[in-house]
Amino acid sequence: MAVLTATYRRRPALSQAHPSEWVPQRPSVVLRTEDGDTLDMDLTRWHDPATAEEQDLLAAVQGPVIDLGCGPGRLVVSLASRSVPALGVDSSPSAIALARARGATVLQRDLFQPLPGEGRWATALLFDGNVGIGGDPTRLLARCRELTTAGGQVVAEVQPPGTGSRRVTAWFELDGHRSEPFAWAVIGADAIADVAAPAGLAVAALGATPSGRWFARLQAAA
Ligand SMILES: C[S@@+](CC[C@H](N)C(=O)[O-])C[C@H]1O[C@@H](n2cnc3c(N)ncnc32)[C@H](O)[C@@H]1O
Repeated sequence: MAVLTATYRRRPALSQAHPSEWVPQRPSVVLRTEDGDTLDMDLTRWHDPATAEEQDLLAAVQGPVIDLGCGPGRLVVSLASRSVPALGVDSSPSAIALARARGATVLQRDLFQPLPGEGRWATALLFDGNVGIGGDPTRLLARCRELTTAGGQVVAEVQPPGTGSRRVTAWFELDGHRSEPFAWAVIGADAIADVAAPAGLAVAALGATPSGRWFARLQAAA
């Protein structure tokens, strides 16, 4: 069982606070599913600048880029530093505030609501397990297809091969306190093609980074 480790500096009211407000200090936060499992997400990463391997991945994407579920905006900042036009979208006001404080160009909105530039983004990003947003990956990938150009791509982080695909109810836990539950999905490298196909997307590339994170590059199926 993979345990999500992260840390915090203060204890907000979990039902209201976005986990990105749990500022790193010592391990404590887990993201748990209804079946008692924990998801492999690294909350501390959200606050850090994009890692070297994330920057390598971003160097290969074409702009303009829309980062869906951008959290505190580190990917948008990294892209902007290379003059790649990028917009982050996140439904959480606190994540958006943190992103703006970093200088990221972001929009507070549910990604299923109308967004600027629909159909004109060259790349949509779903990093850090964001392919699980909403608990229905095919619906989410169909939304990505609406947002991107005909020849555009979706770069989605997935779990390692053998994980399969499952929809879950999940929540964050901190010292015995828990956030409101939300719908999520866990998608492995072995399952991404199956959930992408009904959205009209096919896997163009799939592989692991040196640190063992898995990413799929999806494009419109021929
Ligand atoms: C795993 S975190 C993102 C971390 C960020 N991508 C990163 O790599 O630093 C997932 C984010 O998705 C956002 N989110 C969840 N549902 C959303 C929705 N329907 N529309 C927009 N953002 C959403 C959450 O607020 C949260 O910030």
